[in-house]
Amino acid sequence: MGIAAESAGDIAADWEAALAALSWQLDAGVDEVLGDAPVDRYALAPASTRAAAAPALVRPAGAEVPEGDAVAAARAAASSARTLDELREALAAFRHCELKQGARTTVFADGNPKARVLILGEAPGREEDLEGLPFVGRAGQLLDRMFAAIGLSRRSPDAEAALYITNVMPWRPPGNRDPEPLEINMMRPFVERHIALIDPQVVVVMGNTPLLALTGNRGILKARGTWTQALGRPMLPMTHPAYLLRNPAAKREAWADLLALKAHLA
Ligand code: URA
Repeated sequence: MGIAAESAGDIAADWEAALAALSWQLDAGVDEVLGDAPVDRYALAPASTRAAAAPALVRPAGAEVPEGDAVAAARAAASSARTLDELREALAAFRHCELKQGARTTVFADGNPKARVLILGEAPGREEDLEGLPFVGRAGQLLDRMFAAIGLSRRSPDAEAALYITNVMPWRPPGNRDPEPLEINMMRPFVERHIALIDPQVVVVMGNTPLLALTGNRGILKARGTWTQALGRPMLPMTHPAYLLRNPAAKREAWADLLALKAHLA
């Protein structure tokens, strides 16, 4: 009995300790589990000798892919997709982007493929990664309200009033960090093919990542509201709804951009 009571006490103590460790990690900002087993990084070899071994978490050791090869592989995979379903499958089968290993889902797109307006965002966040759909978190809810104000919706069956929504990155970057240039380069062929298959009248790029992917430039705050051409069609850069949540004063300019889009479509 004494032993049983002691074991129960030990279990309770272990449970309390595990709970405390978990809550400490949450406080420190840890919001993702990337592997089943802990990694003692202090026991790893020094950084100089680690480069080949570290990516084993995400790709078999020795399978490093030079940037050119990964981009060429993306180009080949994307260009062979003749339909949206084939493009979705090509993305799901693409193995060169490490972000995929840490993501729960491949977030492809949402909305009406016949829409006149295609919205290109940055990358899935936590909610999008869980649901497998773009722009479903707080920023996405704001995006839906913004476009509803000019009569456009991802749920509309009517092409005239519909939206099609996708992102440059189909996989959530850890901690919602910005996608890196190599990651954007790898995804650009898929984005270009995606836009060609949807064939929208207008592309709205929301934020720096899609602006960079389609024009090679950053600086969304300067570019927003100025129509330009990308991939042979009109493109309107707008500030990202997450930026508008942090900077409500910028909603005024976003509203002007929405009205410009409405006028363009009319
Ligand atoms: N931000 C984006 O750019 N895309 C999403 O899908 C969600 C948030």
